[in-house]
Amino acid sequence: MKMKILMISPECAPFSKAGGLGDMVSSISKRFAEAGCDVKIFTPLYASVKRSGGMKKQMDNLSVHMGLGLEYGASVWSAPLGRAEALLLEFNMYFDRPGIYNYNGADYSDNGGRFAFMCRAALDWCLQSGWIPDVVHCHDWTAGLAPVLLNTSLRNSPLGGCASVFTIHNLQHQGIFDKGVLEYAGVPMSEFRSDSCEAYGSLNMMKGGLYNCTKITTVSPTYAGEIRTPAYGCGLDGLLRFRGADLVGILNGVDSEAWNPETDKLIAANYSLADMSGKAECKKALQKRMGLKASPKIPVFGVVSRLYSQKGLDLLARIAAELVSHMDIQIALLGSGEYWQERAFSDLTAAYPGKISAYIGFDNELAHQIEAGSDFFLMPSRFEPCGLNQMYSMMYGSLPVVRSTGGLCDTVDQYSEATGSGDGFRFSDPTCEALYNTIGWACSTWYDRPGDIEKMRRSGMSKDFSWGKSAEKYALVYKWAVAARSAGI
Ligand code: ADP
Ligand code: GLC
Repeated sequence: MKMKILMISPECAPFSKAGGLGDMVSSISKRFAEAGCDVKIFTPLYASVKRSGGMKKQMDNLSVHMGLGLEYGASVWSAPLGRAEALLLEFNMYFDRPGIYNYNGADYSDNGGRFAFMCRAALDWCLQSGWIPDVVHCHDWTAGLAPVLLNTSLRNSPLGGCASVFTIHNLQHQGIFDKGVLEYAGVPMSEFRSDSCEAYGSLNMMKGGLYNCTKITTVSPTYAGEIRTPAYGCGLDGLLRFRGADLVGILNGVDSEAWNPETDKLIAANYSLADMSGKAECKKALQKRMGLKASPKIPVFGVVSRLYSQKGLDLLARIAAELVSHMDIQIALLGSGEYWQERAFSDLTAAYPGKISAYIGFDNELAHQIEAGSDFFLMPSRFEPCGLNQMYSMMYGSLPVVRSTGGLCDTVDQYSEATGSGDGFRFSDPTCEALYNTIGWACSTWYDRPGDIEKMRRSGMSKDFSWGKSAEKYALVYKWAVAARSAGI
């Protein structure tokens, strides 16, 4: 299938990334381009994007037609991403800023306008360059107005026949703004109704996207079920049940060029299942870099995460002192997010030197080093649509300790003391007690049943997290969406 696919996304690694969305968009695009599709990723050129020699101006007179008769001039840069092409939208009024969504803990107040602009600019770029995709693949709320535009203002344009696929990466963030943003986006105000873009008197961009797209995917089968329930549906579970027949959960794949212990240039030594000696060197280097006591015997529990309530690391902050006082373990954390959590982990680092070490910030190199140098990897998420870090950790031989939710259920197999099978430690309740007990279980397994730890490592490292099967499923969704759209649905 040689399709033309336009991704619209607020993040695309390595140009921009706040979390796994940036990794996923880039890896799926590379994968489809390798398979012969023509894939372009339309994404903003933020101030933080490193301008490399490979980046070339592709168009410098893009007219972006917003509502209210407003027309803006913008530029588009092109950069190769494997065999795909990233199209980076330069429009300084909105994107020449250090953050993607926020800065110093506060969301940019004009995020509605910024991402409505990204959607319209992407579609105007297609119209003006004459490149008409078969599928417009929209990622999360920021791209939510694209399917709405395709169904309304652009329905009679050359883009009117394009199918749209909307991927939910995280239902918690829906893009809720004043209805004026809808007018600014150039969407007819008749769409400001509860079965399209309106929710509780405001514009809800995610809702608009979910109502108007041809097909919906989310990033794991378990999360696809969870979001149809009030507990995980963030107010949109009714809509997701209504569109249930069009909603599919497909597990994200991993970019094995970027994440692979055999070839990773960011870690102290490379290793593989055949020769694990490099892993011990990575642990030693991590303990040194993070100021933890040098010891191969003490298990290191790693964390690389955004520090928001979704991730449940507030539970860890509450029990960390007790953990390291009662168990001979170390904690190596890299993260940033809510100020109180950052502060709590910094205070713990000062109070328990050699045992707890937190680095507050965003650091891709250290993220790789923690995956490689740790023995266990903590993800006590309250919800987790897919989660990439637990897959990275298994590939790097670090055993995940996770809450049973979303993609964590679909990727981590529970350890059995009876047989030694499994590749991680799972628990159900999002409580301090459950997390404490499960870390205790991992710790006792480390000290008392080292043979099982070895076995689990091997089992995790042998798993296939590549895009293989998932890309086949996306290909089916794309075909399904194109068939539906061409039948006028
Ligand atoms: P989410 O997208 O919800 O944050 P994922 O597990 O899907 O969770 O992906 C997180 C991605 O972001 C991983 O690639 C992880 O390494 C990276 N990441 C998260 N926090 C940091 C950080 N502080 N520094 C470097 N990388 C980070
Ligand atoms: C979101 C989710 C995460 C998922 C990522 C990529 O950020 O929180 O679970 O892995 O998107 O799809």
